[in-house]
Amino acid sequence: MNLQLHRTVFGKEEHKGNVLSRAEAQGLLDEWVLNERLKLHMLQVARLMQAWASEKECLSEQDQWRWEMAGLLHDADWDQWPDQHCKKIIEELEQRNIDPEIIHAIASHGHLHFGVVPQSKMDKMLYTFDELSGLIHAYSLMRPQGYEGMDIKGVKKRLKEKTFAAGVNRDEIADACLRAEVLLEDLIQFIIDHQPQVVLQ
Ligand SMILES: [Fe+2]
Ligand SMILES: [Fe+2]
Repeated sequence: MNLQLHRTVFGKEEHKGNVLSRAEAQGLLDEWVLNERLKLHMLQVARLMQAWASEKECLSEQDQWRWEMAGLLHDADWDQWPDQHCKKIIEELEQRNIDPEIIHAIASHGHLHFGVVPQSKMDKMLYTFDELSGLIHAYSLMRPQGYEGMDIKGVKKRLKEKTFAAGVNRDEIADACLRAEVLLEDLIQFIIDHQPQVVLQ
């Protein structure tokens, strides 16, 4: 499947700062994402993005929501239109005059697939959280205690086991950490600390 976007500019500069309301974003998610597992993944990445923006980048609440929104919608089209992933959500957000930085973050969440290199910190953190969040969630599902008592060592062990969550690209995780200039260990701990708070209602 060729998902290359063949462009690197998204949205319009004059729409900088434009966001969806929480209700609008939730509405889009509910309409487009019928698969509950995928929805949970997006809520998890959204939570990680918001928490990172708040705790590590010390951004305003407005900016925290921009980060969270990128996380919340990054895979919105994957469920019903996998062959148009991430083209469809990008076009939808462009039509709604959304902030170009949010659209760029979504467009670069898999630069090997979409051909858009992560540039801003928001881009890089979305790319970084995406795969690692999924692997850690898969690990929680196979542990009797879930996230409770999970440690960095256990996660690193699963990372080395190529057959575990085989769909998760280890090279991409390593590449993402380098680009974001974040230690893998710190990221794992951050995800263990924040991800369990997310549950599907
Ligand atoms: Fe994706
Ligand atoms: Fe994702």
